[in-house]
Amino acid sequence: MIRVGVNGYGVIGRRVADAVSAQQDMKLIGVTKVKPDYKARMALEKKYPLYAATESSVKDFAKNSMEVSGTIEDLLKQVDVIVDASPDDVGAKNKEKYVETVGRAIFQGGESPGVAEVSFVAQCNFEKARGAKFIRVVSCNTTALCRALHTIDENFGIERARAVIARRGADPDETSKGPIDAVVLDPAEIPSHHAGDVNTVLPDIKLVSMALKVPTTHMHLHTLIASLRDRSVTENQVIDAFEEATRIMVIEGHSGFKSTAQVIDLAREMGRPRNDLYEAVIWKDSIRIVEGEVHFYMGVHQEAIVVPENVDAIRAIIGKESGKSSISSTNSSLGILK
Ligand SMILES: NC(=O)c1ccc[n+]([C@@H]2O[C@H](COP(=O)([O-])OP(=O)(O)OC[C@H]3O[C@@H](n4cnc5c(N)ncnc54)[C@H](OP(=O)(O)O)[C@@H]3O)[C@@H](O)[C@H]2O)c1
Repeated sequence: MIRVGVNGYGVIGRRVADAVSAQQDMKLIGVTKVKPDYKARMALEKKYPLYAATESSVKDFAKNSMEVSGTIEDLLKQVDVIVDASPDDVGAKNKEKYVETVGRAIFQGGESPGVAEVSFVAQCNFEKARGAKFIRVVSCNTTALCRALHTIDENFGIERARAVIARRGADPDETSKGPIDAVVLDPAEIPSHHAGDVNTVLPDIKLVSMALKVPTTHMHLHTLIASLRDRSVTENQVIDAFEEATRIMVIEGHSGFKSTAQVIDLAREMGRPRNDLYEAVIWKDSIRIVEGEVHFYMGVHQEAIVVPENVDAIRAIIGKESGKSSISSTNSSLGILK
């Protein structure tokens, strides 16, 4: 069994902890929190050993009658891998602790690429990450872009690509964030950081990305255009490639998927925990080839898409399993159909 700890139990950490618990070859040793709130209480109700993320928060848990099993330092002594799911840029500050103790850590996309040896998307570069000591799972948008662009590039070759990303303004529980009544250029300068981030995983893809923030909480929506090397490719061939690829779900607008709201509703109907969609979701009827360029829309459930990548990154760090076998185990444990 691979012994895993999760440092940070927020949007991503809670989901990664549940996903780790669902693996036959992993044991969740514990999770950490700073605040003694309902999320910490729910961790205890799930029988997840709870540790204080900082020394100073130990007394806050005691004051709120929540039993902690120790501090992050105690958790680090018991694990083979730590998954850092702390807020943006905090992971890099935590790294020193990991270097001195467990020596193997997974970071999230809010950290800069230099925090780890490899930036990771399982179906793109698992083998490169195998045996690394520090892996960075890239952000939700970068994960989706890499899955889609890698699929097209592997099958048909990409000359260059363009992406316009309408980003959710905030996660559902972030009541103090906006926008409420604006479309925000995020940033005004072009390209947005996403293009460079894709190149940390797929260095040869020529991509320009642009990003806007919109008043929604449940998904991002990408508009993608890619010039194909092979100009004889048909729309049906592109659809087949997406339907074959792992962790890409193909849906049809004429079946009622008129917006991201129906896509999340599908996840509810599928009985997915927390409505989670681990797949990048591509609208089949948007796929059009005009003058050698393929166009399509893609939805990204920001809270969920990186969860399977974290599970695979744990196996990549341990280095014993192939990417194909890890992806297959992760998919079947999380109910990802292909
Ligand atoms: N949210 C998304 O849509 C999304 C998508 C993909 C990737 N990511 C990336 O995933 C990472 C985590 O984001 P998130 O949205 O899960 O954040 P979040 O919901 O704010 O959760 C962060 C967690 O870290 C804990 N924490 C705070 N300071 C800490 C410290 N010094 N050491 C350890 N833990 C600490 C917080 O504890 P308390 O709850 O007790 O305050 C909280 O449980 C970021 O790098 C982010 O960019 C986020």
